[in-house]
Amino acid sequence: MRLILLGPPGAGKGTQAQRLVSRYGIVQLSTGDMLRAAVKAGTTVGKAAGAIMDRGELVPDDIMMQVISERLDQADTTNGFVLDGFPRTVAQAEGLDRLLADKRLDLDAVVELVVDEEALLARIEGRARENAGAVRADDNAETLKKRLAVYRQQTAPVAAYYRSTGQLQTVDGMLPIDEVSRQIDGLLAGAGREEFHQASG
Ligand code: AP5
Repeated sequence: MRLILLGPPGAGKGTQAQRLVSRYGIVQLSTGDMLRAAVKAGTTVGKAAGAIMDRGELVPDDIMMQVISERLDQADTTNGFVLDGFPRTVAQAEGLDRLLADKRLDLDAVVELVVDEEALLARIEGRARENAGAVRADDNAETLKKRLAVYRQQTAPVAAYYRSTGQLQTVDGMLPIDEVSRQIDGLLAGAGREEFHQASG
């Protein structure tokens, strides 16, 4: 199972990705988590990314392609993966297509979590309260505003990209967490059946 979860900050990508990991035995590839680990470790990527992330802007595409390309080369991705936070620009989506084509791999699903903008701030504030002590520098009302503007300008076109390739499926991310999971499961069961028909047909 190889899939992408799309959606604005606070849409529930990380929450749903973690559930998919335990359900399908795949790995979660969260570029946000990878970058935060790089910042903490003080790597070259981390040094380049830290201030950009704190401002709520996007880390440049060439850095992100390098990060994801190296991650996809690791053996634990062989059983499948869920991409959470990547691709975030059309250039990244095109780069991912090239990477997967080189590896002769296909995506099984691209799922967009659709959430009202008004709900996002409440969710991000809720997460910050839950993680008191380890609050992300970008989880505040001001930076969220910037992250949403960046999402509208640079990441919303990624959904349009996958719509144009016929791969995009949407789920109502305003539903309770368990119901969102059930709906994603339903879409993935459909993707599995399609693969089976292709293999047997
Ligand atoms: P990243 O870490 O990817 O942040 P994000 O996309 O803004 O996503 P979040 O982690 O804020 O939200 P989420 O959708 O995962 O929601 P969650 O499940 O936690 O990126 C951070 C930064 O890194 C970026 O700004 C950028 O600078 C950089 N970056 C990363 N990737 C990049 C890339 N590819 N290119 C360039 N730069 C990149 O849920 C949020 C809260 O809501 C939780 O408390 C949860 O319990 C709750 N919740 C979830 N679902 C529901 C529900 N259905 N109902 C009620 N509550 C819910």
